Amino acid sequence: MVKSPSSRMQGGNGLFYPIIGFASCFAFVYMSFGDLWISYDGETTLSFVERNGTHFMVDGRPFYFNGWNSYWMMDHAVDESTRPRIGAMLQAGAKMGLTVCRTWAFSDGGYNALQISPGRFDEKVFRALDYVIAEARQNGIRLILSLVNNLQAYGGKAQYVKWAWEEGVGLSSSNDSFFYDPSIRHYFKTYVKTVLTRRNTYTGIQYRDDPTIFAWELINEPRCITDASGDTLQDWIEEMSTFIKLIDNKHLLTVGLEGFYGPKNPKRSTVNPEFWAADLGSDFVHNSKISTVDFASVHIYPDQWSHNQDFGYQLKFVSKWMLSHIEDGDKELKKPVMFTEFGLSTKNKGFDPSQRDKFYEVILEIIYKSAKRKKSGAGTLVWQFWVEGMEEFNDDFGIVPWKRPSTYKLFTEQSCRLARIQGVLPSQKEHLKKLCSQRW
Ligand SMILES: *[C@@H]1O[C@H](CO)[C@@H](O)[C@H](O)[C@H]1NC(C)=O
Ligand SMILES: *[C@@H]1O[C@H](CO)[C@@H](O)[C@H](O)[C@H]1NC(C)=O
Repeated sequence: MVKSPSSRMQGGNGLFYPIIGFASCFAFVYMSFGDLWISYDGETTLSFVERNGTHFMVDGRPFYFNGWNSYWMMDHAVDESTRPRIGAMLQAGAKMGLTVCRTWAFSDGGYNALQISPGRFDEKVFRALDYVIAEARQNGIRLILSLVNNLQAYGGKAQYVKWAWEEGVGLSSSNDSFFYDPSIRHYFKTYVKTVLTRRNTYTGIQYRDDPTIFAWELINEPRCITDASGDTLQDWIEEMSTFIKLIDNKHLLTVGLEGFYGPKNPKRSTVNPEFWAADLGSDFVHNSKISTVDFASVHIYPDQWSHNQDFGYQLKFVSKWMLSHIEDGDKELKKPVMFTEFGLSTKNKGFDPSQRDKFYEVILEIIYKSAKRKKSGAGTLVWQFWVEGMEEFNDDFGIVPWKRPSTYKLFTEQSCRLARIQGVLPSQKEHLKKLCSQRW
């Protein structure tokens, strides 16, 4: 969804925001011990996530997961005053038995930019990304790192087009020229290569060699409406995924699709939320089938995609949408299918928090059943979690999970029941013992 923090420029004035409760003890520890607090050797050893046909594998066993999105991590790791939020969130996730977090590994132009201009990076912000990865490793959380935004938040493809225009090499002012302009493709490749070959200043490990990274995501929610046939986007995905595999063949790769079916897929287009969804220049099956794409990704936003539908209708849509994509994964793609974002907006007419619980429950249940039957539905990443004291970065979808016991219970029970099917990762052991003991 639109992940534009409401008051982005204020984000840097973190010093002036009160950091309360939970986060404050972390802040204290950091101020007292600084970097000594973190010891990155030994202890947590993670292995690479692999794929065998329609499921992921960790340490030779099938891996189905329960996870979340916190897009804001790198941004908040730049400033010392807000940096403790990263550890607080990752540790809270680990305590819930969660194993995967998706976050932004991009910020193009603008405030706290990682890439200041094409190929120019801010070392301070790169260190912030290093920090996020090192903290994730420390907490046994694997990261899905997204490399650019289709939307405007944090620069996105519009920023690349603007750069090309400013440097006098741009072919077009269309934001979709991000996908077809050779100069912009070159910009993006330079960016990607720099990130993948970055050596983490905390751990000493190059990103491309770091098993903390579950996978790379090419682009968040790609749409190319100027070519509804889908050929332009398809060509871009082929080129960029091949390029990434040349630099890094250890990590898995996904596109970052919302999951809409395009015009080449008339049989499936009735599953789309509405007619417009077929005309966005993307196609779930066609795009995900590319051999250099290891798994498929899908988002779930029934309230944003079809208007004037009641909640009962939305829940039915969710089931149909998920089961259709899981079936594609099993039969057509023979790859895992990951539900990388799902959310329900607080701005909906008649919104009630209990609706969210119901919505989450339907989604988690489908993945549980998929895991039980070894189907391609591989896991879920809720949009989005955050910690106390950062209200100004919330969008209409965010929650502090431990603030609402019924929601907290839904997610922790999912961790427990997935663990009962597939066993426990070493990094989860202690937390799950506490979490699931009553029923183990
Ligand atoms: C991969 O999956 C196939 C079919 O499910 C199974 O027979 C094979 O043993 C698996 N390979 C590994 C390395 O687990
Ligand atoms: C490109 O995207 C930006 C940001 O969303 C927008 O302001 C601009 O008008 C778009 N350019 C064109 C040519 O549509």
